[in-house]
Amino acid sequence: MTTRTPLIAGNWKLNKGGEDGCELAAAVARAAEKAPHVSVVVSPPFTALAAVAHTLSEEKSRVEVAAQNLYPKDSGAFTGEISAPMILTAGAKWVILGHSERRQYFAESNAFIREKIAAALAAGLRPIACIGETLAEREAGKTLDVVFEQLDSFADLFTKDPGFGVIAYEPVWAIGTGKVATPEQAEEVHAAIRSRLREKQGEKVAEQTLVLYGGSVKGSNAKELLGCPNIDGALVGGASLEPAGFAEIIAAAEALSAS
Ligand code: PGA
Repeated sequence: MTTRTPLIAGNWKLNKGGEDGCELAAAVARAAEKAPHVSVVVSPPFTALAAVAHTLSEEKSRVEVAAQNLYPKDSGAFTGEISAPMILTAGAKWVILGHSERRQYFAESNAFIREKIAAALAAGLRPIACIGETLAEREAGKTLDVVFEQLDSFADLFTKDPGFGVIAYEPVWAIGTGKVATPEQAEEVHAAIRSRLREKQGEKVAEQTLVLYGGSVKGSNAKELLGCPNIDGALVGGASLEPAGFAEIIAAAEALSAS
């Protein structure tokens, strides 16, 4: 953990798209009250975006809302798509982009993800840009090649307002598998990401950009992971659907950053 304010973001994926999302958000708001040194974000599906943002504002909560995707046009004939300005109108301030599930199941390329990140930034929506290698890539010794290629495809966009955009390193083999990266494995890649940012985008971007870890983060491993010098928070999938489990992760971040 560093001097950067840690961020714990819950990625609800294809879950909690109705009233159940508002109930979960209210529980997260209560957990966040006990963690004044931690930023907290929840990411419901589009159907619950406005309702969750409304619930959190009624609760006067600091918890902010993220969308899980966007289309990189503001408006027009793009049936089924949602734009960055629409997400802001719904009350969200963040958007998760380039998640490995989007890359894998929806064939999103680095170039398309770059367009989405650019659209988010142009609208004033904070991107959480996800990068990470598959198991085959790791076993072939290509982890940093893959991660740097993904990172370099958008990181120059972060130079305009250093710290506004966030990166999430999520090894694909650790997502939803229960196979968490060891703190050493995670820190090694996080430190490399930080160095790459320093080398290519300058000191300010390297120092101010939060780099979250994601992949099977839960209450029992959060402290170890978040204790690493280059890990600035977590992007949490499965464990973010359980109020008690997510609260444990927030509390672990608070204990580290308040100390
Ligand atoms: P997980 O998902 O915590 O369920 O592994 C993380 C993510 O996909 O962001």
